[in-house]
Amino acid sequence: MLKIGVLVSGGGTNLQAIIDSIESGYIKNAEIATVISSKKDAYAIKRAEKHGINNVCIIKKDYQNKNEFFNAIENHLDSFGVELIILAGFMTVLSAEFTQKYKNKIINIHPSLIPSFCGNGYYGLKVHEEVIKRGVKVTGATVHFVNEETDGGPIILQKRVMEQAEWKIFPEAVKLISENKITVENNKVRRIL
Ligand code: GAR
Repeated sequence: MLKIGVLVSGGGTNLQAIIDSIESGYIKNAEIATVISSKKDAYAIKRAEKHGINNVCIIKKDYQNKNEFFNAIENHLDSFGVELIILAGFMTVLSAEFTQKYKNKIINIHPSLIPSFCGNGYYGLKVHEEVIKRGVKVTGATVHFVNEETDGGPIILQKRVMEQAEWKIFPEAVKLISENKITVENNKVRRIL
């Protein structure tokens, strides 16, 4: 059983999609061991509580610097034996040390078709605002592995049309990983059929 740690900062609709996919049996080989929120009032925490999932707030300003903040997250994840880290609306860019420690073990959902509208400064609603402002006709969501380049890791799945796209491809990516159906070779994701 793949042990998942989910990092959140906001409403947690993507966390909910993963929880629902596990509870319905769509994802069979994985369980959420813990949810970490970087914001005290994140509704995502309520969602975890409602489903009896361990949860904790780890807040940057409670630590002397970013390194100590990331260490606290690492220690918590490691104490739960987490094997896959899911960034579900986690609004802090991870350090290179952190992404290297968990190479090919962190996935993120991003609200655009990468390489469009990604990189530092593009997150959450800001992406949607920019898409609307520029009159972009085709948009969507991307699930990718996380490396030291913001939104630059190997892409697992993409889906056009924003509406609910995230809530479909995020659980699908977790299912594929938990069933050992993808590998990363030369910085590219390969599906194992
Ligand atoms: C989602 O749209 C996700 O793609 C985005 O934040 C939102 C979180 O919503 N993530 C990023 O922009 C990361 N760069 P949620 O809390 O309801 O899942």
